[in-house]
Amino acid sequence: MSFDPSGVPVDPAASAALARKGLDYRLLDPADREAFEAWIEADHRGFHHARPRAAGIEHEVRVMSERRVHGVYDTTAADPAIPVATVSSWPTGLSVPGGRSVDGWAVSSVTVSPTHRRRGIARALMEGELANARNAGAAVAMLTVTEATIYGRYGYAPAASSATVEVDRGRSHWIGPEAPGRVHFVEPAGLREVAAAISRRAVARTPGEIDRWSGVLDRMLGLADPESDAARALRAVRYDDEHGQPQGFAVYRITREPNHPGWLEFDALAAATDDAERELWRFLLEVDFVTGVRGYLRSVDEPLPWLLEDRRAVAFRDVVDHLWIRIVDPVAALAARRYGAAGELVLEIDDPLGYAAGRYTLLAAADGRAHVHGPGGDDETTDAEAPRGRERSRRAASDDVSPRAASRATAPRGLRLGARELAAIYLGGVRPSALLRASRIAELSPGSAELADRMFASERTPHLSIWF
Ligand SMILES: CC(C)(COP(=O)(O)OP(=O)(O)OC[C@H]1O[C@@H](n2cnc3c(N)ncnc32)[C@H](O)[C@@H]1OP(=O)(O)O)[C@@H](O)C(=O)NCCC(=O)NCCS
Repeated sequence: MSFDPSGVPVDPAASAALARKGLDYRLLDPADREAFEAWIEADHRGFHHARPRAAGIEHEVRVMSERRVHGVYDTTAADPAIPVATVSSWPTGLSVPGGRSVDGWAVSSVTVSPTHRRRGIARALMEGELANARNAGAAVAMLTVTEATIYGRYGYAPAASSATVEVDRGRSHWIGPEAPGRVHFVEPAGLREVAAAISRRAVARTPGEIDRWSGVLDRMLGLADPESDAARALRAVRYDDEHGQPQGFAVYRITREPNHPGWLEFDALAAATDDAERELWRFLLEVDFVTGVRGYLRSVDEPLPWLLEDRRAVAFRDVVDHLWIRIVDPVAALAARRYGAAGELVLEIDDPLGYAAGRYTLLAAADGRAHVHGPGGDDETTDAEAPRGRERSRRAASDDVSPRAASRATAPRGLRLGARELAAIYLGGVRPSALLRASRIAELSPGSAELADRMFASERTPHLSIWF
């Protein structure tokens, strides 16, 4: 997706809030190399990372020049060139149920210098990013979080989780089917293009995954800084199907002491087919002289226990609320996904920041398509033709998912909920009935949460397998 980072105006409210604190809110110019390097220093310091080496800086500059990058500057600081706060953002697709994608706005690199903490800088940046998301035409803003207590106040909620999957190699006897294809070792650099194509297909079949940008693939394959110890330790494998077509890849490392079996660890296993997913797992589990296998940011719904004789060989550890989302345009967001059941549901949304506030009517047809009616009279219908991308169309109700065609057998039901709760249920990873039991939402009529459970259900558990 081509994106002009300066195409979205600088949010005047964020700028004014920071100016009142004596701080400059600046959009960085990708041509200003010096400013970018100072910004990268602040970002690494903010996340407690070591300073990057020269190759790492090159990589970061490349990645950041494709984003909208903001810095907050204190001209009275000892080194005024280094920002006291950072944030970056870019438009990207987010996979939603039904093999579809919604226009999203990814927010990353949120740091505030310890010298300037708790003065409302992060708040100004976060509110600015919601305005940017809306101005860029996104329906959903999203981020991955270091702590679960920071972003709820801006209307974000956890929508897709992930876990570390640990397998005891000695107990991992495989009982799954034989795959018709085969696994090959490949050089990470040679995998670059194929990895992008496979990732596109893997992302499309998993709600909660976001479109991969070229820098994240470089990071996965160790190409961001190929001479680093971490990159040189990586081994890459590719699964080709019975026709020789690449359908999956994994990148792993083995951590070990001399003369002792080690642990095989991986951050990336991407599969466009179930065969590829199974066979890559099998390959990783059958590498010899290994005590165990540890996969990071895996799905909490991994089929692996069903592929082994001893399901207790598999442990799901560190289950985390990995993807947090914030709905900034409910009509577009709700129309972008497919629904698990037909029905009519009213959503009365409370949103102190305004973006999602109002009364919405969601009409889902039996084929999963929806028509959404918003408070401003804006309507939107899921488009039947294009499965992904910018496929939605704002228009009056079409006949096939109009109120007439939606299940009339179901009496209108509804929920009263906040923007956070809407975000939590949006991808189908959190059941509305769980939020009802927690008293986080209310039913407009009995049975509404049960209907909402069925409508918002996703055919696949939402999952995000990268940090951003
Ligand atoms: C998290 C961080 C960005 C907060 O910056 P900040 O400028 O101090 O935050 P603000 O002063 O704008 O605080 C805004 C609100 O968030 C709250 N808050 C800030 N940091 C918080 C934290 N770590 N945990 C819980 N609440 C937090 C504040 O109490 C304040 O609440 P209120 O507005 O409801 O009263 C900063 O601590 C940081 O850089 N941390 C390290 C890097 C990091 O974790 N980044 C997040 C990446 S996902």
